Formats: sequence, structure tokens, C-alpha cells
Amino acid sequence: MSRSYATGQITVIVGPMYSGKTTELLTYVEIYKLGNKPYSIFKPVIDNRYGEKEIRSHSGMCEKAIPLDHSRKALEYLKDEKAVFFDEVQFFDEELSNVAKELRKLGKDIICAGLDMSFKENPFMTTVKLMGLADKVIKKKAVCHECGEYKGIISYKLSGNESEIDVGGMEKYVAVCMDCYEELKKKQR
Ligand code: ADP
Ligand code: TMP
Ligand code: MG
Ligand code: ZN
Repeated sequence: MSRSYATGQITVIVGPMYSGKTTELLTYVEIYKLGNKPYSIFKPVIDNRYGEKEIRSHSGMCEKAIPLDHSRKALEYLKDEKAVFFDEVQFFDEELSNVAKELRKLGKDIICAGLDMSFKENPFMTTVKLMGLADKVIKKKAVCHECGEYKGIISYKLSGNESEIDVGGMEKYVAVCMDCYEELKKKQR
């Protein structure tokens, strides 16, 4: 019996900063590009670290992206996309999970990337909800800034305020393993 699969797939790429989430998302973009399949890339408007209208990896790879102040506004831009990308999902409203469900029903693939945990070890709820719905979750690691092991699963904030929403890069955050995270926190006290 032949069956047609009308639904798309939700892929969620998570991990600490510098773990290669945006790089992995851009690798997926290339797959659709090579296959001549239409796609759109969205980012939260708050993420102004690089250009306002692009997503960029720490190693300098970039693509144009549409900034949104609410996830539901993505629907207004959509035409005949086969894939819809969202980077930095931790900064999106939690409604993004419902938007992703709707897009999947429409047959679109949704590829999301974002932090699973804040520097305070708190899960980011938008990311968590997407992980729960996903067809596939890819959890990435970074090289620990302190011990050099490939075990970095959390970001540590070096400076600045205590806010868990605070855009920045190497001047503010490093990625560390859990042992080094605890050590750094002890020293901080
Ligand atoms: P993310 O979106 O998860 O922050 P990116 O895809 O933007 O990650 O960047 C990944 C790149 O960051 C790596 O290819 C590497 O060049 C660089 N990098 C810098 N610091 C680290 C680290 N501690 N561990 C791994 N990669 C790092
Ligand atoms: P990245 O994962 O692509 O490196 O980007 C993560 C962004 O999130 C970066 O702008 C810093 C920010 N951030 C927070 O706002 N809160 C946090 O707790 C952490 C770890 C990062
Ligand atoms: Mg990134
Ligand atoms: Zn370590």
C-alpha cells in the first residue's frame, strides 16, 4: 500500500553558546538551497548582535534572515516554503511551538536552533516546548573554556548584569562543562 506523507518534520538544535547550533542550522539551509527548495529564515528582533537582518555563526558564516517581534508574524511572510528556519529560539515567545505545529501540518519542515539553558542553569521554555514536539533533537556540545574537554553543555556569564536575556558574545559568555561551571560559581561567591 502506498502512503503519502503530508506533514513536515520539526528539527531542534540545542546546546550552549559556541556549540555550533547556528552552523548546523546553516548546513540544513544549504541542503534546501542545493535542492532548489524554497525556504525562509527568521530570527527574533532582539538579537541585534550582528546585522539586524542576518544570522551569523561565531565562525563568520551568515545568511539573510527576517527579524520578528512575535513568532506568529512568521505566518504573514510565508508562501510556498518547504522549510522554515528559526534561529535563537530562546528569545521567541512560547507561541512559537504552536506556530511550528501548524507549519508541520501544512507540510513544511521546521528547523530551529537555540539555547536550551541560561547561564543560571534554567531551561528556556520556548526551546523546551519545541524539543517536546520535535521529530528530531540535536544536542550539541562546546569545548570547555576552562579545561579544554569537549564537554561544554552550559554557558557561563563573565560580566554584566544578572539578566537571563542579555545579547552578547565572547566579551560576556564562555561555554563550560558542568564541573568547571560549579568551580567558577564557587570562586564567584
Ligand atoms: P552557536 O550558534 O551554538 O553559538 P556557532 O555555530 O555560531 O555556535 O559557532 C560555532 C563555532 O564557534 C565553531 O565552529 C568554532 O569556530 C567557534 N568556537 C568558539 N569557541 C568555541 C568553543 N569553546 N567550542 C566550540 N567551538 C567554538
Ligand atoms: P548563540 O547561542 O548563538 O551563541 O547566542 C546566544 C545568545 O543568547 C547571545 O546573544 C547571548 C544570549 N544569552 C542570553 O541572553 N542569556 C543567557 O543565559 C545566555 C547563556 C546567552
Ligand atoms: Mg548561534
Ligand atoms: Zn571543563
